[in-house]
Amino acid sequence: MFLTKDEEKIFDGEMGEAQAIAIRLLVSIGEINGADSLIPIKSAHISGVSYKNIGDGGLKFLKKIADKVKVPTTLNPLGFDMERNGPVEVDRDFKEKQMEIIKTFMSMGIKESFTCTPYYFYQKTSYGDHVAWAESSALIYANSIIGARTNREGGPSALAAAIIGKTPNFGLHLDKNRVADYEVEVNGKLDYSGAAALGLYLGTNYPGKIPRLVGFNYLRDFELKAFGAALAASSATSMFHVENRTPDDTLNRGKKFERIEIDYNQLKNLMEEKSSSEKPELIAIGCPHLSKDEIDYIASLVKGKKKDKDVEVFLFASRETIKNSFESVKIIEEFGAKVFADTCMVVAPLSKKYHKTAINSGKASFYLPMKEYGGQEIIFRNFNDLLRWAVVDY
Ligand code: F3S
Repeated sequence: MFLTKDEEKIFDGEMGEAQAIAIRLLVSIGEINGADSLIPIKSAHISGVSYKNIGDGGLKFLKKIADKVKVPTTLNPLGFDMERNGPVEVDRDFKEKQMEIIKTFMSMGIKESFTCTPYYFYQKTSYGDHVAWAESSALIYANSIIGARTNREGGPSALAAAIIGKTPNFGLHLDKNRVADYEVEVNGKLDYSGAAALGLYLGTNYPGKIPRLVGFNYLRDFELKAFGAALAASSATSMFHVENRTPDDTLNRGKKFERIEIDYNQLKNLMEEKSSSEKPELIAIGCPHLSKDEIDYIASLVKGKKKDKDVEVFLFASRETIKNSFESVKIIEEFGAKVFADTCMVVAPLSKKYHKTAINSGKASFYLPMKEYGGQEIIFRNFNDLLRWAVVDY
């Protein structure tokens, strides 16, 4: 792999140990994957922020590599909201370790973002930008909806890229790897959860392949966000196209693809198979974190209504989204739901208090039943069905 004179100096340790560790990690990844060089990036997004995920080993590595970042860098959410209490009580020891991790990230110049949707307020990412994003739901959104270019980074490689301001040039940074592998059609109209169920279906049955959705132009960006999050959670796929809609669909022009036809009922059955039939204790919405439009929409549905006292309703969004949705958040809180910032519903220890959780997210339906994420009994339905449990006289 070609390194410039300046990169060689960093590699040889002339700029300090942290930078040497970072560039060596990037070069190793690049060499394994056949990269020709390092290319500059516009931004980085780091996952693996929760102490639950990285543990003491991760914290030690973080302290060793802590150096100022060279590009705007954001952080994934944690297991609790730092300003409000909740969503459930977290042990003091855990909290202390978590705050140590955050302090270390902040000392590097990383933004206090704590969200898996950094593209809404924190990152000004544009078509054609090379970036290094971890967090599968965010990076598939960047590649597919924004048309930026990122590989599926892990927490350490995204951090190393942020410190050096560069990433190895391979994979989805190159045109030839961004072309679709197959086309998909569904004989029915999908909503948010239907799109998420389609993501799970394709991730499970066509792992690692890039789909091109045909006839899906009606889906809004937040529904495609749900689709991408489920697809990337259930497989290594990190990009998709929507015919004549997503920026890099131009790369598919003139090409012929195998077409897969999916019956809408297959997706409904998939959601049903994952769901318990009992009433949930908790309805959790916002995996990935909600946009302002989604919060406004939810507010319009619950305005002036009363929440059933036997079901909790938690919404999750970034601090900045919450701040910018002030009026709607007020309406939602008056209804009786709670809105949390900084928090990932999957890493939050929800199962300390709740065992039956209803969601409209394919990604959450993939993780929440896992033992390491609380072994929840889930109910995977569209938002309107969930509201039937939550709203009195809905
Ligand atoms: Fe975001 Fe956590 Fe879901 S990081 S996409 S809320 S699993």
